[in-house]
Amino acid sequence: MQADPSHMSLPENHRMLSNLVFPRPIALVTTVNAGGLVNVAPFSFFGVVCAKPPMLGISLGKRNGREKDTLANARATGELVVNLTTESMAERINLAAMDFPPDHSELAACGFTPVPARRVRPPRIAESPAHMECRVAQVMDLGGKHGSHSFLVAEVVLFHVRDELFSEGTPKSRDLKLLGRAGNDDYFGLGDRGRFEMKRLQYEEWSKGREPPPG
Ligand SMILES: Cc1cc2nc3c(=O)[nH]c(=O)nc-3n(C[C@H](O)[C@H](O)[C@H](O)COP(=O)(O)O)c2cc1C
Repeated sequence: MQADPSHMSLPENHRMLSNLVFPRPIALVTTVNAGGLVNVAPFSFFGVVCAKPPMLGISLGKRNGREKDTLANARATGELVVNLTTESMAERINLAAMDFPPDHSELAACGFTPVPARRVRPPRIAESPAHMECRVAQVMDLGGKHGSHSFLVAEVVLFHVRDELFSEGTPKSRDLKLLGRAGNDDYFGLGDRGRFEMKRLQYEEWSKGREPPPG
């Protein structure tokens, strides 16, 4: 089988890539908007891009042709926190991926607990085993006028790793039980869960009959 991406739509290319390049780690990114409202959302087009200075790369798509809140906030404030994600956080991560209105914070609605960061304003997520406080180094809009993604390069200014998950100068990666994303609705839990499926949720459906999330 061969496929020419220039003859494929955005969803077709997305499906091809996300079903071939996996498992991908998931960054749960916290940002704040100009008014200080906290935003949290997961991103699996995510990886390490430089060791010194330590830098992470996150690729953010558009929603209805517009930037997602995470990128708008990161551009406006220059700050973000990348929280690592574990298999026990999977269902809450799925909630955080819903398209919440920009003036409502996902934090409480998703059951995440904010703890202050030290060098940037967005909070860390207490449920994560490790956090990386970051400043925006660069944003590249990919693919020219018709490109679908922007690549955010973030420099880590402070690492946090839970004490019991760190020994002899190194994170105990085998004990982190991280969560990985694969194609379609597949995930990998690197602890006890193994491969499992989780369907995306729509905010409009989920929010029916619920109180609006606190802002
Ligand atoms: C596991 C997972 C991984 C995701 N990875 C990405 C990604 O790499 N890039 C992206 O643009 N959206 C990704 N999404 C979708 C965003 O999380 C979603 O669009 C979210 O609503 C963005 O929130 P924001 O507008 O508050 O930034 C992912 C969703 C899930 C559930």
